[in-house]
Amino acid sequence: MSDLRGAICPGTFDPIHLGHLDLVERASRLFDRVLLLAAVQSGKDPLFELAERAELARAATEHIENVEIGTFDGLLVEAARNTGAAAIVKGLRSVDDFEREQQMAMMNRQMLPGAETILLVTSPHVQYISSTLIREIWTLGGDVSQFVPKVVAEAMERMRH
Ligand code: PNS
Repeated sequence: MSDLRGAICPGTFDPIHLGHLDLVERASRLFDRVLLLAAVQSGKDPLFELAERAELARAATEHIENVEIGTFDGLLVEAARNTGAAAIVKGLRSVDDFEREQQMAMMNRQMLPGAETILLVTSPHVQYISSTLIREIWTLGGDVSQFVPKVVAEAMERMRH
């Protein structure tokens, strides 16, 4: 990302949903390059394995020319340092998000001076969407197709069988 203005969009993406997609699309208009980074998050018990989360993210963002997909393990600031990204871009849905994101932004900047976090206020039409609730609805047999890209809905449908 050396001579271009790049941003990273980190997250668990378990699975990537329409709110994430909206965020990545908007980030891709603000930066020359956007690297979506799926986190290992070994503390959680993910529905999708890391490679599947990354593959679904790749398929869902195929239409955005300047987006690349990667994965990371460990500290986000290390991934930020390694990629040379100018900014970390996250979505902001609510006051709850704000408190968590503000704290992480400050701790990340303390660990890596110059690591700037940009919080993009979520578009209203996708504000309510969360991966946690998508997994819950899916686990309870509900239809999640209106919350996720088509490729994700198809993958989740396949997992039922
Ligand atoms: O999609 P999520 O679960 O909101 O993503 C959170 C994520 C993965 C971006 C965050 O947990 C993270 O940055 N994890 C990497 C570990 C790390 O750097 N922890 C210290 C944060 S101050």
